[in-house]
Amino acid sequence: MRLVQVLFCAVISLLLPGCVKLTLAWADLRPDGPEAAPDALQSLQEQGPATSVELWENNHAPKLREAFQAHVYGYLPEDYGFEILSRQVLDEAAFEGAARLIEYKLQAKPRFGGKTHDAEPFYMNVAMPVGDGNAPIILMQTFCPRWDTLPHAAIYRPEDAGGCSGGGIGAGIMTYVFGRYIATPPTKMILDRGYGVAAIYPSEFAPDSRERGLAALSAMSQGMESGKERWGAIAAWAWGYSLMIDALEGDDTIGSSEYITWGHSRYGKSALLAAAFDARIDGVIAHQSGTGGASLNRRKKGESVGAITESYPHWFAKSYASYAGREEEMPVDQHQLLALIAPRPVLLGNARRDVWSDPNGAFRAALGADPVYQIYGSEGLEQTRLNDWKPQADLAFWIRPGTHGVVKEDWPAFLEFLDAHFD
Ligand code: GCU
Repeated sequence: MRLVQVLFCAVISLLLPGCVKLTLAWADLRPDGPEAAPDALQSLQEQGPATSVELWENNHAPKLREAFQAHVYGYLPEDYGFEILSRQVLDEAAFEGAARLIEYKLQAKPRFGGKTHDAEPFYMNVAMPVGDGNAPIILMQTFCPRWDTLPHAAIYRPEDAGGCSGGGIGAGIMTYVFGRYIATPPTKMILDRGYGVAAIYPSEFAPDSRERGLAALSAMSQGMESGKERWGAIAAWAWGYSLMIDALEGDDTIGSSEYITWGHSRYGKSALLAAAFDARIDGVIAHQSGTGGASLNRRKKGESVGAITESYPHWFAKSYASYAGREEEMPVDQHQLLALIAPRPVLLGNARRDVWSDPNGAFRAALGADPVYQIYGSEGLEQTRLNDWKPQADLAFWIRPGTHGVVKEDWPAFLEFLDAHFD
């Protein structure tokens, strides 16, 4: 990245929320430093290593899910009700005739300790390739509202609601700093390759804000057994991916049974967590998910536990913050989160200058999850360097030059990975 761009970004990062810290450092492309990669099979020392799939699934995996809720993300609902409040086909030939565009208004009722709550209703927009109700569906949660992700005049938006596109100077700056596809993915390209797109704006039901977010999350989790940690927004958004599947499974016009969670950065974290908890998710693309996502905590590189929990106290359980500066004492680490997704395909997207999200720590987490892929008979991670791109691998690692964002090279790589696993 040119110096002028770095300086420009440094100024912008003070103005835009959700910006990453910018440095001039590069991620090392070799994972073979002195530090050993962890091994997810050795997860719970008192249990002994998971030597078979049976042992992993019946013993280690449930204990790890419990530990991730207790120490990092807080507890997801024990159960929930779900209602489709309305469903409407907005356009039979949207996106230059490539897609049928549907809009749903949804409401979930999470249940904690036997107490049911009404979550805020939220919308989901779905673009399905015309004539292919069975297309695998990419479930997206995005920084920008639904009407930016799937731009179409008929999509419901509250009055005076803002957005990221729209051509103003703010939109131009955002695209310049965070890449061509930060607000709007290449929808037509995705549809033409045979994938559907479903989009929600997670803040509609769990606001991405300290005050409003914490208030909504606490209200929704009243009744939770004492001694358990209230959930953070990352867990609520992860649950949001499951709600998207609930709605799609309830729609007779959609025959798809393949779902891929896609998320960038904070939603990369929720995309991974969703797959670790919901077996209906068939694959994940987690781009630059960083701390609380794919990158190891105990490595203490990039964004620290202290920094993330101070800036975003509503994202995690309170206990996560207590590990600031003593990450080595954490009973779980992120290679075990990846291992909970095995043997389903996962793509970890990265950029060399995005050291805030610690690409090397994400690679080591993939190395640590690999033994669990192996017990399923999958080859898992097939690369030894960060840039030895193998889209057909079940644990695929993508790194490109540049910084944090979704740039023009990213989506072609994502689609290459999807074609290798879902066509
Ligand atoms: C901040 C935060 C990261 C997060 C990112 C994003 O930079 O520190 O953890 O991934 O925002 O969501 O863009």
